[in-house]
Amino acid sequence: MRPETLAIRTQTERTGEKEHSTPLFLTSSFVYDSAEDMAAAFSDDSLDVNIYSRFSNPSVDEFIKKVCLMEGAEDGIATATGMAAVNACFMTFLSAGDHVISASAVFGSTHAILTKYLPKWGIEYSYFDMNHPESIEALVKSNTKLLYVETPSNPGLDIIDMAMVSALCKKHNIIFVVDNCFATPAVQQPILFGADLVLHSATKFMDGQGRVLGGIVVGKKELIREMYLYIRNTGPSLSAFNAWILSKSLETLYVRMDKHAQNALQIAKALEHHPALNWVKYPFLPSHPRYDIAVKQMSNGGGILTFELKAGLEGGRKFLNGLKWLSMTNNLGDSRTIASHPASTTHSKLSEAERQAVGITPGLIRLSVGLEHPEDIIAEILQALNL
Ligand SMILES: Cc1ncc(COP(=O)(O)O)c(C=O)c1O
Repeated sequence: MRPETLAIRTQTERTGEKEHSTPLFLTSSFVYDSAEDMAAAFSDDSLDVNIYSRFSNPSVDEFIKKVCLMEGAEDGIATATGMAAVNACFMTFLSAGDHVISASAVFGSTHAILTKYLPKWGIEYSYFDMNHPESIEALVKSNTKLLYVETPSNPGLDIIDMAMVSALCKKHNIIFVVDNCFATPAVQQPILFGADLVLHSATKFMDGQGRVLGGIVVGKKELIREMYLYIRNTGPSLSAFNAWILSKSLETLYVRMDKHAQNALQIAKALEHHPALNWVKYPFLPSHPRYDIAVKQMSNGGGILTFELKAGLEGGRKFLNGLKWLSMTNNLGDSRTIASHPASTTHSKLSEAERQAVGITPGLIRLSVGLEHPEDIIAEILQALNL
């Protein structure tokens, strides 16, 4: 079966109640038929039994299984949030004295872990510019363990050639981690391009309606096993309820991503030459600096576009205040179109120089394009731009 079908038809085994929709296993722990079975569950790790929902849960397992099938991954582990997935990757594979290489264009909280917390534990980091991937190899040291990228990045929509980065990681025996949150497996499967681990903030397009928080990491079985032990012991596990929501949402991910991308491309084209804007950036616009790589790696341009207002910070405020119905919030990947202003919100903790370095200018607006009629979204944006 194709991934589109598997995303719909992968389901926890039907119970005696003969339910059609997948059941929700809202339980903290699981029972045993005998004292011997209970003892075996704890002593023999190879037994495929549920013990406690911090370790495993059928609703969570269903969500993990679907994402593995969609990403073409061997195994996976789910977390309470996307940040728990990012942090678990670093905590599982890095020790004091290790070195991590990351793109500088990463989500604000990922930047905080790399620059504030990892150094506290004796782990050093080096940043590279997504627009200069040829600079990566010079950063590799004998203690480099992991290389981390977002492609497309949040919010700059920078794109990197994953096959090229993967070849470099293989040469130097480095774990290659890709945050695939912006594209989702419906648009891009980093494992096909050589990623060892792929992670997501499932809070975004996977949920798709801005309801629950969640995260997931999928990839090589032996790496996931190590992450499983870290998460099982330290506790950032995904709740069964959130897993149930997310698993149901994956049934519609492919059709939603098609529509998000169709709307986003139409809006990007409509805004591209607007006199109030310096530029519009969208992976599937030929003007994107990595358009050739975007079309190689992605099946469509995804649901996020950015533009820069000529009027800078004040223009950004005026634009947001001029919106009549479009949502002003920091989340993304919702059925509702969202406008946000990264410089004053998600990336406000970065210094001005750090923001400039990753392309977050004062007038940058990030649009998470929803599923409303594209002409309505365009009319709403134009009336706010033309005020
Ligand atoms: C690219 C990316 N990675 C990770 C995260 C963190 O996810 P969460 O908010 O679910 O912790 C976000 C959140 O916006 C994100 O955009």
